[in-house]
Amino acid sequence: MSKSSSAGTPLESLKGAPKSISVLGASGSVGDSALDIIAGSPDRYQVNALSANRNVEKLARAAIASGARFAVVADESCYGDLKQALAGHDIEVGAGSDAVEEAAARPADIVIGAIVGAAGICPTLAALKAGNQVALANKEALVCAGDLVMAEAARLGKPILPVDSEHSAIFQVYERDNRDEISEIVLTASGGPFRTWDKEAIASASIEQALTHPNFSMGSKITIDSASMMNKGLELIEAHHLYGLPSDRLKVVVHPQQIIHGLVAYSDGSLLAQLGAPDMRIPVAHCLAWPERAPANTDRISLVEIAQFTFEAPDSERFPCLRLARLALETGGSLPNILNAANEIAVAAFLAGEIAFGGIARLVEAVMDDFMRRGETGAAGNVSDVLALDQSARAVARGMLR
Ligand SMILES: NC(=O)c1ccc[n+]([C@@H]2O[C@H](COP(=O)([O-])OP(=O)(O)OC[C@H]3O[C@@H](n4cnc5c(N)ncnc54)[C@H](OP(=O)(O)O)[C@@H]3O)[C@@H](O)[C@H]2O)c1
Repeated sequence: MSKSSSAGTPLESLKGAPKSISVLGASGSVGDSALDIIAGSPDRYQVNALSANRNVEKLARAAIASGARFAVVADESCYGDLKQALAGHDIEVGAGSDAVEEAAARPADIVIGAIVGAAGICPTLAALKAGNQVALANKEALVCAGDLVMAEAARLGKPILPVDSEHSAIFQVYERDNRDEISEIVLTASGGPFRTWDKEAIASASIEQALTHPNFSMGSKITIDSASMMNKGLELIEAHHLYGLPSDRLKVVVHPQQIIHGLVAYSDGSLLAQLGAPDMRIPVAHCLAWPERAPANTDRISLVEIAQFTFEAPDSERFPCLRLARLALETGGSLPNILNAANEIAVAAFLAGEIAFGGIARLVEAVMDDFMRRGETGAAGNVSDVLALDQSARAVARGMLR
């Protein structure tokens, strides 16, 4: 059930008028970056709709501060609280998954998809189906439903603008006219907090240790994914959908300074890279201004102060999640969706203190094995199949946890 009133929201993309921006996942870490960039350029950007899951207080504060027109919580039980928090303000209120999709579908120049997890699939598709350009941080939408999302973007004729810093870097150095001369794409990885740890120490790492990312402050799910390197695995699948390359032309290089975010190698031996501070506001600013560039109050780097860039090969032995994601990418079909669902359950179980860090990869592998043994990894033809399989893989993972 969705609870929302439905006044129309005119698109204000007339020349010279500010671009209207909706932010799904506005109460999260990427949401913060997006709202900061928007607030820094009120002449360029204006907020349309904002969404959160349950964080009413933060959503209401952001909606009032940004002058949003529509604020939505995914959890229906939070509707009354949000209504109360926004009483006296001219902001429409909605609740429920339908209302999140409505927020995604309201006419906007750009919809930023910054929901975490598979919960972002339907809102991403809703935004595209409504004709809105999507700037996507929610990599899980591409991992689980990449073919469907890319097909909608192609139908719309507007590229998905990647917010993930690696994919944004690649987008910025990807020569569309020379796409046939691209030999490979390289994603850089920080290596996470356990980059130098041995396998046994990683397997028994504490929650606090796993939540300590060396360079970025992010939501807890992606921070744990970074520690296990599942994040880089999900990003390989994301890159496959965004750039259409097979697994053997998608490489990962550990680069602990995280200044070079991604590279594209061309047939003439050139390797083009994008560099910048590890600051998510930079890729967000790139998406919002695209195809132009605009000033943004983001962190800057001094190459002289950094002095050294180092690179290492990733180690799938110590970081088995990377191997599992590669397997899912190469097997294709629904295996990436199954991998993601199992990982979401495993990460939640680790954060709840129910399994050890090493148990994350073990659970993901066991769920993938289970579906492969039963031959239930065929490609999903539509979003209902994607969601059904997601639920079924979660149920198997929960069963194994018990
Ligand atoms: N953080 C980064 O630097 C970064 C970088 C690159 C890519 N990404 C990707 O961006 C996405 C968001 O990451 P994040 O770090 O910003 O996560 P986060 O801080 O945990 O924020 C997640 C957002 O999604 C909302 N949400 C959670 N569950 C939801 C549901 N079931 N339905 C609707 N909304 C829901 C949350 O609302 P509540 O606050 O109410 O729970 C919050 O607004 C992830 O896919 C991540 O992989 C993040």
